[in-house]
Amino acid sequence: EQYKVGIIVGSLRKDSLSLKMANCIRNSSSSNLNLRLIAIDQLPLYNEDLETDMPPESWQLFRAQVRQVDAILFVTPEYNRSVPAVLKNAIDVGSAPHGQNVFENKPAGIISLSPGKMGAFGANHHLRQSLVFLNMPVMQQPEAYIANSQELFDANGMIKVEKTSTFIVKFMLSFESWIKRCGL
Ligand code: FNR
Repeated sequence: EQYKVGIIVGSLRKDSLSLKMANCIRNSSSSNLNLRLIAIDQLPLYNEDLETDMPPESWQLFRAQVRQVDAILFVTPEYNRSVPAVLKNAIDVGSAPHGQNVFENKPAGIISLSPGKMGAFGANHHLRQSLVFLNMPVMQQPEAYIANSQELFDANGMIKVEKTSTFIVKFMLSFESWIKRCGL
């Protein structure tokens, strides 16, 4: 049976390179994973005052969508050497209220992308720090720091750099093994 994997993209931009990468992964037939995007663009900024009997509907939907999947793949850019606030907000929403962290124990993978040379290393590792606290077993290897992201995609949003598409296939096969190794 296929594993259900939720993909969370750390950019809200319509032409986001991270979203393009997520869609390439989603459409790649080589993977034995059932992949779906989990949207984070409608989540009000986390505020404990909203954590009543009736938290915002979008929070409830997001939490339910994360609960439904076996694992999470984060595909994210870097903002100011860290995780974009929208992604951090989604993590905060999913982690709360106390004792009801929906990310608990879900295997995770991280792909970070940047038009620069460092492949959003800072975001990738700041994200890892949060995932330790969420108790998500994060795949260690292979690491994915994708540099020069503005040169990666053709006009149809397909990866045109062969080395990168080969790497992504390998990354996703490893991720599948990782989910299995985590006992699922
Ligand atoms: C950036 N960008 C950026 N890039 C990077 O490699 N390191 C960084 O610290 C930052 N910081 C940063 C801050 C802010 C506020 C913005 C808007 C952008 C550039 C960023 O990598 C680039 O815009 C990506 O294309 C954004 O990802 P998406 O939207 O294409 O997925």
